[in-house]
Amino acid sequence: MRQAGRYLPEYRSLRAEAGSFLDLCLDPVRAAEITLQPVRRFDLDAAIVFSDILMVPYAFGRNLSFVAGEGPKLDPIDAGAIAGLDVSRVAERLAPVFETIGRVDDLLADELSLIGFCGAPWTVATYMVAGHGTSDQGPARLMAAREPELFQVLIDRLVEASVISLLGQIRAGADVVQIFDSWAGILNDDDFDRWSIAPTRRIVEAVRKEAHAIRIIGFPKGAGLRLERYVRQTGVDGVGIDWTVPLDFARDRLQPLAAVQGNLDPLVLVAGGAGLDRAIDAILEAMRGGRFIFNLGHGIVPETPIAHVERLIARVQGD
Ligand code: CP3
Repeated sequence: MRQAGRYLPEYRSLRAEAGSFLDLCLDPVRAAEITLQPVRRFDLDAAIVFSDILMVPYAFGRNLSFVAGEGPKLDPIDAGAIAGLDVSRVAERLAPVFETIGRVDDLLADELSLIGFCGAPWTVATYMVAGHGTSDQGPARLMAAREPELFQVLIDRLVEASVISLLGQIRAGADVVQIFDSWAGILNDDDFDRWSIAPTRRIVEAVRKEAHAIRIIGFPKGAGLRLERYVRQTGVDGVGIDWTVPLDFARDRLQPLAAVQGNLDPLVLVAGGAGLDRAIDAILEAMRGGRFIFNLGHGIVPETPIAHVERLIARVQGD
C-alpha cells in the first residue's frame, strides 16, 4: 500500500520534476516509472499502479489539487452538483491512468502481478463532500444522515464511475484490483451495510460480469468484527486487514472465506529492530496455513527508512 512514494528518493526527484502530484498521475510515462520504482529496488511480488483514489472525482470534472503538507483539496459538492454528476466522460478522463497500466504491463516481469485500484464510494464521497481529508468524516456522515436520498445519488454515481475505472484498468492489463475503503470503520453498523458493503458488492458484481476471472481485494479499514460480514456479502476474493485486526480472528474467520492481505503496523516498520522482526514473524506464523498476501496494515509513511523495508522483505521472502 503506497508502495511508491515519498520514502523513496527516486520518487521525490520525479515528483519535483513533474510539478504537482496530479500532473504526475496524469503523466503515463512518469507514472509508469514510479509504479516500477519499488519493484526495481526491492524483491516484491506485485506492483500497484501509481494513481490515486481521487482520480474518480477528477474524472467527474471536479476541481482537485494536492496541497503540499495538507493533502487533497476539492470543491465541496452540494445537492446541485450531485444532481449534475455525469459519468459520460469518466473513461476519457481516466485514459492516462489506463495508459500508465498498459505501459507498466509491457515493462513488468511476467511473474509479477499488477494491481489496479479505486476508492470505495463511501471513502471517495467523504473527500468530495468535505472537500478535504477530515479526522471524523463528519461532513459526509452528516449528509448521509440528513439527506440519505441525496447521498445515495452520490454513491450511485461513484459506483458507476468505479466500475468504469476498474474495467478500464483491467482491460489495460491490471491482473488484480483492490477497492480501498479507508474510512469504512467510522460508520455505524447500519450505515456500514448501506454505504460500505452494498456499493462495494455492486462494484464487485458489475466488474465480474465483464471480467469473469478477475480477482478483487476489498480493504475496509477499521471494519474490525464486521470484516467477516463484509467478505461474505461483498463477494471479494481477498480482504485487506489493518494492523488492529487480531491475527487469530484473521486466521479463523477470514482466511477460510478469502485470501487475507496485511497487516503490519506501518509505524512498527519505521521503528525497525527486534520489534519489527517479531511482528513480521507473528503475522507469517498466524497466516501460514491459508491464502495470504503479506502487506502493511495501511500506507507506508514518508519517514520509513529504506533499510527497514529491505529487512522486512528479506524476512518475508525467507532470505
Ligand atoms: O501504493 C501505491 O504506490 C499506489 C498509489 C496510491 C496513492 N494513493 C498515491 C499517493 C494509492 C493506492 C493511493 C490510495 C489512496 N489515496 C487512498 C486509499 C488508501 C489509504 O491510504 O487510505 C486515499 C484515502 C487516498 C487519498 C489521498 N491521496 C490522500 C489522503 C493523500 C495525502 C496523503 C499524504 O501522505 O500526503 C494523497 C496523496 C498521495 N497519493 C500521495 C501518494 C504517493 C502523496 C503525494 C505526494 O505528496 O507526493
